[in-house]
Amino acid sequence: MSSLSQIKRPISGVGIGLRSQHIQEILTALPNTLPNIGWLELLADNHLSEGGLDVTQLDAIAEYYPLTLHCVGMSLASVEPLDQDYCRRIKQLAKRVNAAWISEHLCFSAALGLYSHDLLPIPYNQHTLAHCVQRILHIQDLLGERLLVENVSSYMTFENSEMSEIEFINALAEQADCDLLVDVNNIYVNQLNHGLDGKAYIDQLPLARIKEIHLAGYQQQDNFVLDAHNNPVSKPVWQLYQRLIEKRLAIPTLIEWDNDIPPLQVLLGEAEKAHQIMKNGVVQ
Ligand SMILES: [Fe+2]
Repeated sequence: MSSLSQIKRPISGVGIGLRSQHIQEILTALPNTLPNIGWLELLADNHLSEGGLDVTQLDAIAEYYPLTLHCVGMSLASVEPLDQDYCRRIKQLAKRVNAAWISEHLCFSAALGLYSHDLLPIPYNQHTLAHCVQRILHIQDLLGERLLVENVSSYMTFENSEMSEIEFINALAEQADCDLLVDVNNIYVNQLNHGLDGKAYIDQLPLARIKEIHLAGYQQQDNFVLDAHNNPVSKPVWQLYQRLIEKRLAIPTLIEWDNDIPPLQVLLGEAEKAHQIMKNGVVQ
């Protein structure tokens, strides 16, 4: 890696998630970078263990693209002891690839010694708020930097919620002094599944704390929609995205596609749409 690698490179414009299916194509094109792609996001958990990380390839990509780390293993809201070793390994990886920032979901995925692959939702009340704030403060201490916390899709709500999701997120960001990753598709999935008002949610976001936006596609099921990340971004999500971008231009935006991964050109087409909205403020 170059001697410049420890100076954090700024993230701007549109990025895509780096997926193994596309690595060779991206490497072959170097030193040319993908058109209108300003950065790449790594799924951190895929690169933590032996075999998951092709060091040479990752170093080559990190030379030409600013990178961010996206995590699924911190279990921010869990009452299990914090996995400090996991946080340390994330910190090491972030240092290795000179990640601009680290993000994680507002959910839990571990309980009673069991681990879920799903990002499980939490009740929005003062008790869980205080718990999440303490946990995020601890994680930020371990990482030595602010964490970006992402809103999640959910398929159930809790009777003991005392506040709305957006009220909870505002309070959390303020009290934990964390940054936010706003997933617009997750807002829309919760609108469809729970009747949440997506526009009002966007209007109440603390704009100054938003470091990154996610855009993804959902999948219609029999009586709910699934945050499947296997489709193009839907028109209503583009419209919510436009509403957010009109409030604060140029928030770095990522096209997230994790299942049924298409050719790179498809992702670049989605990225181009985001790029146009950033530039012109218009949903095509
Ligand atoms: Fe996301």
